[in-house]
Formats: sequence, structure tokens, C-alpha cells
Amino acid sequence: MIKIKGIQNKNFNNKKCLLRLDLNIPLSESGEILDDTRIIESKPSIDFLIDQGAKVIIISHIGRPNGEYVENLSFVKLLSEIEYKINRKIVFIDFEQQLDILNIIDSHEKGTLFMLENLRFNPGEENNDENFIEFLSSFADVYINDGFGTIHRNHASITGIASILKSYGGILLEKEIQNISECILSKSKKSTAILGGAKISDKIPIIENLSKSFDNVVITGGMIRPFLIASEKIAKFSANEENNEIKIAKKILSFNKKLFIPDQLICAKSLDDEPELLHASQINQKDVIYDIGPNSLMDISNMILNSDKIIWNGPPGVYEINKFQNGTNKIIKSIINSEAKIKVAGGGSTVAAINYFDSSEYFSHISTGGGAFLSLLEGKFLQGIEVLKV
Ligand code: 3PG
Repeated sequence: MIKIKGIQNKNFNNKKCLLRLDLNIPLSESGEILDDTRIIESKPSIDFLIDQGAKVIIISHIGRPNGEYVENLSFVKLLSEIEYKINRKIVFIDFEQQLDILNIIDSHEKGTLFMLENLRFNPGEENNDENFIEFLSSFADVYINDGFGTIHRNHASITGIASILKSYGGILLEKEIQNISECILSKSKKSTAILGGAKISDKIPIIENLSKSFDNVVITGGMIRPFLIASEKIAKFSANEENNEIKIAKKILSFNKKLFIPDQLICAKSLDDEPELLHASQINQKDVIYDIGPNSLMDISNMILNSDKIIWNGPPGVYEINKFQNGTNKIIKSIINSEAKIKVAGGGSTVAAINYFDSSEYFSHISTGGGAFLSLLEGKFLQGIEVLKV
């Protein structure tokens, strides 16, 4: 089990703590917060440090502004909403005031919460630049990383600072690492992993890694089609479809006997068209797979109900649209009805689907990470975790 240096038995009274969060939250076009999970999950570490009498300086990125100032991605716009959600006042610090940052922090009482502007407005963040690391370290005594969602990135505020300041992992980070590692490592009588996503090439390491320890690996979403073509259940349509994804699917199928590929599907020519229930052999080139049919869902549901450990990443259908949401709804209901102790889910669209069906309370752990969650499942070496290890 991975063990990192936690904060809970340490005293941060009077310390200036640089707290790296992942406040890369989904925003609507008009800039409203669409999902506040990452803010809410950051609260325990903020409260713990402030209540101890620390000065806490929140640092985070949002979006991908590529090292430049982008007005819509400024934390100034989100400040009052974040303050409301964590129920605390925040002193905002802009990069332009950087020469004064230490003075600003020193001029406030202990127990004050500060927040720095979007880190990615500075190119030094993603380049893990020495000067930017030095700048960030210059106004703090200790560094605490509680941004699990970014732990797979080798950036200044994630790996760089840890080489200079005394470093710890926050409460959320510890919880994520423990629950996800436990899910992978814990023994079970029967286990099911449900994996979606569009590209098989992105998922090979996860399929391979989870196949070692899980009994069933269910393929859903955009990966179904190439797997069905590779297993010759859908007739191959054209040279275009003999693409890399199908070649990879064939290779995976040749050595992996644990994969379950649904072959009864809900298809349509487009999202606006009437759905049709088709067996794989009836699918032609113009049919797009938008969900899983009831017979295949029954098989998946039985696997889930007979499992004592379940992991889920990737909704099987277009759950936001009524006619294509049955698969996602049924998988969630099966997970709810299963007696499994470990029910772990993660990834942006999966978490959004769980919230859409208002079922988060039925999961033992819902990860705040997307890429980070998948990287940990893959068993990847994550430098952001390495620098915090005991
Ligand atoms: C995420 O949302 O997965 C993290 O905040 C990482 O963001 P990034 O993919 O832009 O590095």
C-alpha cells in the first residue's frame, strides 16, 4: 500500500502553508460552476489547517490557458462562489503583486485563508521552471498537496515545490490513494471492472492492469464497436474501419479471456433519430452505438450483483438523453443493489452520471480525479505521489 506523509498528526500553528488543490472545476459557457465536488472535497484540509492557526495559501490551476492570462479563467470570477461553498473569507493575491506577497501574508492574522491567481497563467507552472518554483516557495514554510486530480502532472506546483519545502499530502489526497489502492489490492471472491471511453489505445494499460486482478472486465462506450469488429461479431465494413483501434482490440482479445463485450445494443443513425435495438450482427456502417441493450445489460447486471468488488469508469450510453440512458441507469441501480463492500467510481463523465442519477451516497468511493484516477488504476509511476512518500 502506498503511504504518504499526511497532515493529520502534525501541528501547523503559525505556519504559512502552500496548499495545492485541484480546483479545475467544470464551468458553463457563462462561467457558472457546473460541479462543485472538487471544492467541497477540499474543505477538510482547509478547515484542519486554518483551525490549527495556520495561514493557508491556496494554489490551483483551472483550464488550459497555456501560460497566458485568460480573463474567463481567472479565479477572481469564482472567488465569492468558492468562499460561499467553503464558508470562509479568502484574501485574493494576484501575480502582479508578487513582490509583495510575503508582506501581504505577514500583514494578516494567523488563520487567514489566501488564494493565488490561476497558476497556469504563468508558463513556469507547466514547464516546472526553477524560477517559478522558487517564487512559489518564497512565501511559505511548508507545502501540502491535496489536489489528487493533478497528481499525474509533473508541474512546478506539484513536483517542483516538493523538492524545496517540507511537503505533505492533504486529507483528500490520502483518502483517494488509500481507497483506490485498496480497491486494486484487496482480495475478493468475484470482482468486476466496467470500463468505458472512446479510444482503446488510451485504455490498454488499464485493461491489462485490471485484468490481472479482476474477474470480469466489461467494455462499454466507444470501445464496444472496435472490439465487436475485432471479434468478428460485426462484419467489417470498409478499409477505414480496419484501423489501429481494431488491430489493438484483436491483440487484446487474443490473450485476454476476461473481457465482456456487450453484443445487444441501442443504435441510431444520429442522436436525433429513433433508437433501434440491434444485435451486433445486424449493425451496419451507419448505425452508431448509443447505449447497451437489455439482454447484454442483464449479463452485466448479474456480474455486478455477484461481485464483492466493483470499479467503474465510463458511462455506457448518452445518459443525458432519455432514450439512451437506460444502460447507465441500470448499471448504477445494479451497483446500488449489489452487496459489494468496495464500489469505486471515477472520471469526469462517470461522476457527472452518478450525480445526474443522484446516487453518490451508494458508492464507497468516488474519485475527484479523471486522468489521475486512471493513472493510479494503470499502476503508473506518479511523481506527484513519489515526492510525498513516507
Ligand atoms: C483534471 O481535471 O483532470 C486535472 O485538473 C488535470 O488537468 P489537466 O488535464 O489540464 O492537466
